[in-house]
Amino acid sequence: MYFCSFLRDVSEDCPIILIYLGGTAFELLGDEGMDGRDGMDGTNGMIGTDEIISLFADRMLRVHRSFIREILKVTENPRTISFAGGLPNPKFFPVREVAEAAQKVFSESGQAALQYSTTEGYPPLREMIAERYAKKGLKVDADEVLITTGSQQGLDLLGKAFLNRGDQVIVEEPTYLAAIQSFRMFEAEFRSVPLQEEGVDPSALKAVLSDSQAKLFYAVPNFQNPTGVSYSEERRKEVAEAMRGHSTVFVEDDPYGELRFMGEEASSMRRYLGGKAVLLGSFSKVISPGLRLGWVCGRSDVMEKLVIAKQASDLHTSFLSQRIAYQYLADNDVSQHMELIRSEYKKQRDLMVKMIEESFPAGVEYTRPEGGMFLWVTLPENMSSLDLFDRAIKNDVAFVPGQAFYANGGGYNTLRLNFSNSDEERIVEGMGRLARSIEEMT
Ligand SMILES: Cc1ncc(COP(=O)(O)O)c(C=O)c1O
Repeated sequence: MYFCSFLRDVSEDCPIILIYLGGTAFELLGDEGMDGRDGMDGTNGMIGTDEIISLFADRMLRVHRSFIREILKVTENPRTISFAGGLPNPKFFPVREVAEAAQKVFSESGQAALQYSTTEGYPPLREMIAERYAKKGLKVDADEVLITTGSQQGLDLLGKAFLNRGDQVIVEEPTYLAAIQSFRMFEAEFRSVPLQEEGVDPSALKAVLSDSQAKLFYAVPNFQNPTGVSYSEERRKEVAEAMRGHSTVFVEDDPYGELRFMGEEASSMRRYLGGKAVLLGSFSKVISPGLRLGWVCGRSDVMEKLVIAKQASDLHTSFLSQRIAYQYLADNDVSQHMELIRSEYKKQRDLMVKMIEESFPAGVEYTRPEGGMFLWVTLPENMSSLDLFDRAIKNDVAFVPGQAFYANGGGYNTLRLNFSNSDEERIVEGMGRLARSIEEMT
């Protein structure tokens, strides 16, 4: 059984979290893994650990392993019910259909599919993405679409193309953890704007825009990771209005938009901001994350730089994956498949909310997302979610403590729960364990 507890050293821009597993401290957000056991400790006449560390680029000293990826290791205990990961439900992966698509690609154009290809991506897939935008009323040219290795690579490419050391990036507070990690690689400074029920606080955004030279404003307006919050249409307009007169680029990351199971679809910020908005999209939640397929969509001068950045990174995204995804999308009714996912996720979300309502103590607040995969819990002021994590792990249930999602510190009494990856039985049992853990804290 794991013995697990957290200590915090809250340095301003890099919270360090120590986790104790079986009595051994691992620094989750620190420079873990450099224990010199790989023959680089100087004992064999090679370069020593301190020496090699002194050779690392400055950017590596400010970026740490993903907290979530580390937490997932702790939750590998089969008894643990984990609401920590951000995984789609594999039950809905279209395995047979993707296998059929792959078979077709191999039999009809196997040699081409296994060859190198262009950086921009497979033209019919780019066309298809442009058509999917057109169906939502958004005019996008296929030439404006760059296929990436997951939308995560889009973040990396934007960082490469835009950010010098010390450049400012505006982020929602809280924000997507791996965006912090990605932009921190380029030694960006973060300016956080609080996220409210209907989107970022427009007056705080105005103040930050006026008092910074931020190059990028990174946001997830649909079913945000980690909170599940979506911007209302009105708030989107207010944000666009606030952006007026500033040369900051709006980066709209939208991996969850198609997972809306309630409420009205809202407009992409591109509708209000035109070429000032760069869009990131992903097939991870539409087909599967294992394909590693996403895209960036922006005006031609931006795309030109992103293509150069991508050439230097990986030449192009797996052509085989692109061909299979295209074939799958061409041969199947994806909207019907998405209907199924949405209705199942809604049931899972409803059950999680019901469990909170019925079994969490008064004073606990939570979001009721209209889509996506996460909901966000705020504990009473005096309760630390890191302490709760410690207790929850002993009770065999896991979540992500919220402070991991704060670029500038904070969120000590918050936590993220994933509802997409657990069936109903596990949600009932796991939420019961979590409620008990909270009670034990009071
Ligand atoms: C907000 C957000 N952006 C980007 C990504 C990366 O997705 P992809 O699988 O397309 O790289 C994720 C993944 O969970 C996410 O939550």
